[in-house]
This record gives sequence, C-alpha cells and structure tokens, in this order.
Amino acid sequence: MNLDRPAVLGWLRERDAGRLETLWSLADRTRRRHVGDEIHLRGLLEISNHCRRSCLYCGLRAANTAVQRYRMDAQTIIAGARDAAERGYGTVVLQAGEDPGLEAGWIAGVVRAIRADTGLVVTLSLGERSREELALWRSAGAGRYLLRFETSDPRLYAHLHPAAPGGPRHRTELLPILRELGYEVGSGIMVGLPGQGIESVADDLLLFRELDLDMIGVGPFVPHPGTPLGALDAVAAEEQVEPDEETVMKVVALARLLRPDANIPATTAVATCWGPRGRERALLRGANVVMPDLTPPPYRAQYEIYPGKTCPPGLELTMTAIGRRPGIGPGGRRREEVPWSRP
Ligand code: 5AD
Repeated sequence: MNLDRPAVLGWLRERDAGRLETLWSLADRTRRRHVGDEIHLRGLLEISNHCRRSCLYCGLRAANTAVQRYRMDAQTIIAGARDAAERGYGTVVLQAGEDPGLEAGWIAGVVRAIRADTGLVVTLSLGERSREELALWRSAGAGRYLLRFETSDPRLYAHLHPAAPGGPRHRTELLPILRELGYEVGSGIMVGLPGQGIESVADDLLLFRELDLDMIGVGPFVPHPGTPLGALDAVAAEEQVEPDEETVMKVVALARLLRPDANIPATTAVATCWGPRGRERALLRGANVVMPDLTPPPYRAQYEIYPGKTCPPGLELTMTAIGRRPGIGPGGRRREEVPWSRP
C-alpha cells in the first residue's frame, strides 16, 4: 500500500465511523493476504524486574523503591520455556528491565539450554545492551530481539528516556545493529504519551516501514502512580494523541498497512485496557500475534510496568469465534520473496 505521510495523518485524524470501517477492513484483508489466519502465540517470561534506567513512564524505573525486585534463576526460566513448549507455542520471549545483573555469559547459557531442551525459538527483550553482548546471545542461538523505540520524536524521547552513560542517544541506533547480527528485529511505541503529538505518531509509523521491522508492538500509555507521569497532567503536545482505543487501533491498522508481512501482537496493554474484546478487535484490525504471560507467581504481579497489567483468559474462544487458529511452529517473518508452504 502506497501510504505517504499525508495519508497516514489523514487516517490518524479520521473521526468518521464509516471511513474507519474501511481502514479496519483494509488492515484485516492485508493481514490475511500477507500473514494468513494463524495467530502465533509467544510465551512471555519476565525474568527480572531490576532496572538501572529511569524512564519517566515505567513502573520498574530504578527510582521506584516500592517495587519488590526479583531475578529468576536459570532453572525457573528453563521450566517456563518447557511450559511454553508443552502448550504448543513455538517461541519463548525472555523479557526484563535493563538489568546489569543479568550477566551476558549467564544469559547465553540460558539461551543455549532452552534451545537444546525445547528447540523453541528464543526472543530476547532485555533493553539496551552492547554490541558484544547482543552478538554473544545471537551466537548462543537467540533468534529475535524486541526493543521498542517508544517514540521517534527526539525531544520527547530524550525527556522520557534519559540516556544511560555511554549508551545510545536513541534506541533506533541499536536496531540496525540487531539486524546486522542476524536477529529478527521488533520495535514499537506507546500511544498517548504526554507530549506526543499526532505528527510524531505519523513519523513513528513511517519509521516502522523504513526500518523494515519484522515485529511491531503498539499499546496505549497507562500512567503508573509510582512514576513522574503517574498523573496525566504533564504538558500536552499540540494535537496531543490520546491513549484511547480508537487511536491505538488506528496505529495497529496502519502498522499492518505499512508493514504487510510483519508480526504484530495484540499487546498486553491493549488487553489490560479493553479486555478480551479489545484483544479481539486488535486481531481483527491487523494483529496476528498474542504473547500470553507465562511468568510464574509471585513474579508476575511484581513485573508492574503499568498498573493493572493482566493477560485475560479466553484466547482459544476468541480465536474460534473470529475464524482464526493457533499458529504452528515458530511463526517467524515470512519474507515475501520466499515461497511459503502451509503446514
Ligand atoms: N504504559 C504502557 N506501556 C508501558 N511500557 C512501559 N511503561 C508503560 C506504561 N506506563 C511499555 C514500553 C516498553 C514495554 C515493555 O512496555 O513500550 O517497551
């Protein structure tokens, strides 16, 4: 689809319900044509909630002393991966705060153990790490990396996401490195950040296409009371983007039109805010992936990026109701030029 910036902006500003039906059905048809009817399930393990960063939006920020911090041991992580394999998932996602205590060699060992034990594709989402560490994990068998750039607006990004000493100014600098190392690369944004204008969301969407992202995660910003953005009274941008359902769905649908063969989840934040029906609507408006949370108690509740974070049940019912089926295998990016055979 030949969407240019004015067209993307036009859709983001669209209020007419009838016109929006056109957007939803364009996105759904594009999803079907390029990635089919399978919904790929990724087992999510939140392996540590320690974080050295101080992002203004995130409940796990270092300064939030109300968080009870944990780091899973290798056995617990490997058991979680087995759980994912037993449920028939093709992928496990190891996610954490930016935790220097997750020593690079140790993570490499865990990745190798999961690969040997389960054969699952391993996706890492461990924040900004050095090229050497990312390369080590790749050679240990990690296949994918998720690192949302959150917003492409450089000023808003620098404000919300203070740089780490010696680290990149913007996460977008790391994405080409991940690609070069041979990872499938995922990124994404939050919608409705205080100070986020509609033009910057159009730029975010166009950047998804420019970066040729393999995976794109989009969710609403949810204020966390333990953060500086806990009350939604921060300075609004001109044409401030709201974290409402219609806006988030527009971003999901446009992401599908701009990156037709990407893997796009109906995210946990969407399901938290708008329940199983919200998740269903995202799956009907471009999304083709769900990441069920397999983090065992008590850790799951302690991984509170934003309040109320939950993974609603009933996914099987939803899939059946909308004529979709669980994906078989790892569900990687189906490069358009590669001939595809259905299982
Ligand atoms: N509301 C919604 N999403 C959030 N994230 C972090 N904090 C919040 C929040 N307050 C998202 C970010 C991050 C992902 C793991 O969770 O996009 O990349």
